[in-house]
Amino acid sequence: MANTARVVLVMMVVIEATIMRINGVYGLSMGYYLASCPFVEPIVKDTVNSALDKDPTLAAALLRMHFHDCFIQGCDGSVLIDSTNGNTAEKDSPANLSLRGYEIIDDIKEQLEQQCPGVVSCADILAMAARDAVFFAGGPVYDIPKGRKDGRRSKIEDTINLPAPSLNASQLIKMFSQHGFTAQEMVALSGGHTLGVARCSSFKNRLNKGADPMLGSEFAKTLSKTCSAGDNSEQPFDATRNDFDNLYYNALVRKNGVLTSDQTLYNSPSTRNFVNGYALNQAMFFLDFQQAMVKMSLLDVKDESNGEVRENCRQIN
Ligand code: HEM
Ligand SMILES: *[C@@H]1O[C@H](CO)[C@@H](O)[C@H](O)[C@H]1NC(C)=O
Ligand SMILES: *[C@@H]1O[C@H](CO)[C@@H](O)[C@H](O)[C@H]1NC(C)=O
Repeated sequence: MANTARVVLVMMVVIEATIMRINGVYGLSMGYYLASCPFVEPIVKDTVNSALDKDPTLAAALLRMHFHDCFIQGCDGSVLIDSTNGNTAEKDSPANLSLRGYEIIDDIKEQLEQQCPGVVSCADILAMAARDAVFFAGGPVYDIPKGRKDGRRSKIEDTINLPAPSLNASQLIKMFSQHGFTAQEMVALSGGHTLGVARCSSFKNRLNKGADPMLGSEFAKTLSKTCSAGDNSEQPFDATRNDFDNLYYNALVRKNGVLTSDQTLYNSPSTRNFVNGYALNQAMFFLDFQQAMVKMSLLDVKDESNGEVRENCRQIN
């Protein structure tokens, strides 16, 4: 008995150490808040679940917010900062792209400040909330290391580093490789588009004659119909906008990708096999997605030397 327990313990330590070494992010761990804020996980999960019970479309919003956070200045909660008199923040960029769900993060933060003041970072809250949103929507369950600190910079001009919906596969591969992702990981992460919608303004350029040879006439009619209701009208990425499944990839195979950056993943020979694989095998998509999400959640993580635990997720201390 005692030996088994010791072997299990050693294995856990080895696995944890391996994860940390692979990502080169020391100081983060699965059990980071075990002693300092033991109920952090249930508080995040319950708050996310009750918000999504009321409005399931917010699962997409939380996932997208986490992605935008991590790609700009690392996963440091910079996307949550409000603009001030002297500073226009990331979220006020046109590429804040209809981000929603900030009030869920505020709600969680308020509860955590009562339980364990000054302990849990906004960056960790967002990373956990995105993970719980994926699970709520029917996606994979996975754990993420915690211990991110919140950044002190949020500037509108940094958002030029977000991928544009007009990019082709080689541009996407290049952009994601700058953050350490393989082409396959980029395709798996794009599967986040199994949730949510794009507004007409994000794809209407495709409707101009000859602008996008990838767009077939049937699906062009669908997109035109959506756009006839205005720039802000919404087109779901796949048939089940609130379900985390592999129908997004099936849509790409049928040439029904909403954004140029979606359809290019099927049309380009360098990524088509990954799309076909995920369209046929949802379990493989789930596995690759969760691994890539953990990796994304560790991008340029900050520590005590260059970050803080914000008191209010909307402003630096
Ligand atoms: C590959 C490069 C990507 C591009 C070019 C891109 C672009 C976009 C655009 C233009 C929209 C629609 C915004 C609007 O019209 O309001 C969108 C929505 C969304 N994106 Fe991405 N995205 C990318 C990758 C990702 C990744 C990696 C994730 C998460 C893992 C993600 C998650 C989402 C979600 C969930 C939505 C729907 C949001 C909602 O319904 O509120 N995207 N994306
Ligand atoms: C997004 O930015 C626009 C300005 O480009 C601003 O009017 C809008 O309030 C912002 N949305 C959010 C949710 O911050
Ligand atoms: C992708 O776009 C870039 C920039 O417009 C262009 O140079 C390149 O040829 C395109 N690649 C493919 C495969 O179409």
